[in-house]
Amino acid sequence: MKQVRKAIIPAAGMGTRFLPATKSMPKEMLPIVDKPVLQYVIEEAVNSGIDDILIVTGRGKQAIENHFDYNPDLEVFLRSAGKSDLIELVRDIGEQAQIHYIRQKEQLGLGDAIRLGRHHMGGEPFAVLLGDTIIEPPHGQKPGLRQVLDAFEQTQSSVVAVHRVPMEWVSRYGVVDGEPEGGNPDLLRLRKLVEKPAMNVAPSNLAIAGRYVFTAEIFDCIDRTQRGVGGEIQLTDAMNLLAQDHPVYALAWQARRFDIGNRLEYAKCFLEFALKREDTGPKLLEHLKWLLEDGEQPV
Ligand code: G1P
Repeated sequence: MKQVRKAIIPAAGMGTRFLPATKSMPKEMLPIVDKPVLQYVIEEAVNSGIDDILIVTGRGKQAIENHFDYNPDLEVFLRSAGKSDLIELVRDIGEQAQIHYIRQKEQLGLGDAIRLGRHHMGGEPFAVLLGDTIIEPPHGQKPGLRQVLDAFEQTQSSVVAVHRVPMEWVSRYGVVDGEPEGGNPDLLRLRKLVEKPAMNVAPSNLAIAGRYVFTAEIFDCIDRTQRGVGGEIQLTDAMNLLAQDHPVYALAWQARRFDIGNRLEYAKCFLEFALKREDTGPKLLEHLKWLLEDGEQPV
């Protein structure tokens, strides 16, 4: 059985939906309470068994490399300020996996970003986690990527996570068409994938959720992919080519997905995560109740 150890995290997008915050800061570094989005994504990968990560960056993304590197000046400062307990916290960030970087020189799309990982993946199957997407599995379930890896191990074929969205939203996503195979109704063998279809031509409302596992054949398919929606090389189009010659599956999961490049989704994610934490949750809840009920302001 092929064990997947490597992952690509594309993080080269400009983040225009989040300007001006992203003028000088990558959207992947936006904080959810006190941790950048990308750190949540890397923790999901590591908790799913990945130990080698290639991050695809671009111009203006140096903050990402700095975050996962040591920062000796900060450590000296923390020690002199009597905050040695924080040293481990900032030092360990980049230690969870081997992290590598490659730069996408031009914004040619998600397919092109994945193509840049070909050499590093060395012909092995690999995972893809979109760097601007946080996945929150239902309580007690395995991390999002682990669920996709389990489906990969079962099928030995490429798998993409999908979730149902309102039909009005399909034009924001890659959308898949397939049918259940074997005993698992949540695992669909795919016939067709379409990137950002209009509502009237969308084959379903099952939207690609930002977590994938691919066999190495995807790279040849990306090479054969013409520019698609937005003039970009779309990963979804390459997967459509892959599905013509190889089995490709969709795992329809119940996990929640936060698209951090979207302002409202970001705000929801921040709020939910802050509500769940012991240090911020109870007081924040009181505050929200006060805001909504217009009662006495809590302290
Ligand atoms: C990308 C993919 C799309 C997928 C989406 C999930 O689109 O191209 O297929 O559904 O991520 O977030 P983007 O959000 O980069 O436009």
